[in-house]
Amino acid sequence: MASVLARYRKSLLERTKHHLGYPYNLDFDYGALSQLQHFSINNLGDPFIESNYGVHSRQFEVGNLHGILVGREVFPDGILYASCESHYSVFKAARMYRMDCEKVNTLISREIGCEDFRAKLSLHKDKPAIINVNIGSTVKGAVDDLDLVIKTLEETGFKHDRFYIHCDGALFVLMMPFVKLAPKVSFKKPIGSVSVSGHKFVGCLMP
Ligand SMILES: Cc1ncc(COP(=O)(O)O)c(C=O)c1O
Repeated sequence: MASVLARYRKSLLERTKHHLGYPYNLDFDYGALSQLQHFSINNLGDPFIESNYGVHSRQFEVGNLHGILVGREVFPDGILYASCESHYSVFKAARMYRMDCEKVNTLISREIGCEDFRAKLSLHKDKPAIINVNIGSTVKGAVDDLDLVIKTLEETGFKHDRFYIHCDGALFVLMMPFVKLAPKVSFKKPIGSVSVSGHKFVGCLMP
């Protein structure tokens, strides 16, 4: 067993040296969290309903599926808008929840193109809007301009009670406060939810 583990560790070390693209943290210091590593934590089902599987961390983790579900619950006939750079979980949510979804074109920076967004909103002025805003898209790291998205909605005639914004901050939102001139993601703005991934820059092992 020792030699199997040693070989496996060696291959992990080797692969880690040449790993590109996925922004995880290797400066692990679990501190107070190390006491949680002896449990089989699993977040099955609806994060806000107590399930039979009691070993979970749902009080801390919900994600894109939940954010978009809240939007759909607020606006059952709402249309989901998301840039074509959005994570697949966003389009998966649209299929799961049977929501009409408009894919919005992106700029060269891969952030959402607000002219195309405006044009698509104008086609569906009679339906509320549910918008996924990327704060760091997977692979290309595009950050949508949250303020411009809100402005575009307002200018197209969507009052604050006719839209719901979910920010997919899985990749970058935890570091935005430390980046000069980065868009501010704040619940002082008319947004409904933000998702973050603990296992990326923070470096939580699970779930
Ligand atoms: C932009 C973005 N959204 C969502 C996800 C999914 O996050 P999680 O794996 O924490 O569910 C990822 C993960 O790779 C991502 O990069």
